[in-house]
Amino acid sequence: MRTFLLSLSFCATLAACASTPAPEPTAYGHRFEHAEQWAEEFDDPSRDAWQKPEVVVAALQIAPGMTVADIGAGTGYFEPHLSRAVGPNGRVVALDVEPDMVRYLTERAAREQLANVDVRQVAGDDPELPAASVDRILIVDTWHHIANRAAYAGRLAAALKPGGKVVVVDFRRDATRGPPAAHRIPPEEVARELSAGGLAVRVPDAGLPEQYIVEGTRP
Ligand SMILES: C[S@@+](CC[C@H](N)C(=O)[O-])C[C@H]1O[C@@H](n2cnc3c(N)ncnc32)[C@H](O)[C@@H]1O
Repeated sequence: MRTFLLSLSFCATLAACASTPAPEPTAYGHRFEHAEQWAEEFDDPSRDAWQKPEVVVAALQIAPGMTVADIGAGTGYFEPHLSRAVGPNGRVVALDVEPDMVRYLTERAAREQLANVDVRQVAGDDPELPAASVDRILIVDTWHHIANRAAYAGRLAAALKPGGKVVVVDFRRDATRGPPAAHRIPPEEVARELSAGGLAVRVPDAGLPEQYIVEGTRP
């Protein structure tokens, strides 16, 4: 499998060739166009071995009927898992800044009959979620793409129902894949940012070989 690192270089090349007007590059400095090509990597079946989606979904402590937002949903790797976890009476709100990811994931949700998944494009600095509207927020391999993260964390806190949780999953410094080391944010910094947004923070034992989890709860 190509590594995330190789793909990020690939993406930088694609971004340089981009011609359609669209969102600003992410804080990391590039966009995620050409969703089909990203899907080869993000949805490579071998990802399950290190991504352990069942561990990530367990960390979210989802109950059937909940509303879960997936920010930076990309090609929708987590959507089948989240869709199953919330069940027919719950909703998954899959959000992404990149129009081509939104197009791809909308088609995927229809193809895979994920009837409880809504896909929306959002601004890079605002998940555009109504106040106190979601029970859980998942952000995987995306936090390092967001600018002004403490302010963004405040918007997440406002979007959560009281007692609701955000779970940030990102690559550790020593991970064998992921963005270049300079772009990896240590969990302590993520914790400070979520805390600055008004969330009560915990850094649980992630149980993931390459990534950490930081959890923030709205008091
Ligand atoms: C590395 S991909 C991760 C995709 C998915 N979470 C996964 O684990 O497969 C990062 C995604 O976040 C999106 N993204 C980047 N900055 C964002 C922002 N500020 N708000 C929402 N989505 C963002 C990108 O367009 C891209 O689809």
